[in-house]
Amino acid sequence: MKTLVVGIGGMTNGGKSTLSRGLHQQIPNSFIIAQDAFFKDDSVVPVDSNGFKQYDTLDALHMDKMMTEVKSWLRDPASFLAQRGQTEKKHTATSVEEKVFLLIVEGFLIFNFRPLNEVMDKRYFMEIPYDVCKERRSSRVYTPPDPPGYFDGHVWPMYLKNRREMEGMVSGIVLLDGLKSKKELMASVFEDVTTEIKRMIG
Ligand SMILES: Nc1ncnc2c1ncn2[C@@H]1O[C@H](COP(=O)(O)OP(=O)(O)O)[C@@H](O)[C@H]1O
Ligand SMILES: [Mg+2]
Repeated sequence: MKTLVVGIGGMTNGGKSTLSRGLHQQIPNSFIIAQDAFFKDDSVVPVDSNGFKQYDTLDALHMDKMMTEVKSWLRDPASFLAQRGQTEKKHTATSVEEKVFLLIVEGFLIFNFRPLNEVMDKRYFMEIPYDVCKERRSSRVYTPPDPPGYFDGHVWPMYLKNRREMEGMVSGIVLLDGLKSKKELMASVFEDVTTEIKRMIG
């Protein structure tokens, strides 16, 4: 049973979830594990001296639980999918993609967590400029909602810090221009991933 783990990282509102869902829809036997599902309860996330909740750090996430999910998928992807009601497409089918199980790991801090970074076969990072990021973020409703000044007081400075840290730790990340259309981004990553799958099955 062959497996491929693709990381879709990037800044908040870069388009990670949109791209990940697109890939999942197009590629049989794929599954998404999203980092956003692993935030700790609000009550345990500390506040800084300006009153901003410190969400954009690994400490705010149950990375141990996320790793447990990833390892469970790696151990036996077919059973993992079956347990979640996703029936496996049988390998006798014509599509070559069906012969490889694909895990899409998506999130804003996936490469900064070494054990997670280590299991990835391919790494993408979606980036958009400050003003576009701020604008996209302001039109979303988060739980809990962003308080006034949160973007400039926490989100952006933490993005810069996390990004610098990532660049010091990880190489071989493919940067994606999140200003490109959803369709264009999807087409290029789909092409890249399916080429890799075809290479794997020879
Ligand atoms: N390529 C794109 N071009 C324009 N808008 C996009 C693009 N990708 C995503 N969006 C929009 O940006 C917002 C954030 O997208 P999302 O995929 O949820 O980002 P992330 O998961 O990185 O936070 C959504 O409103 C989405 O529709
Ligand atoms: Mg998202």
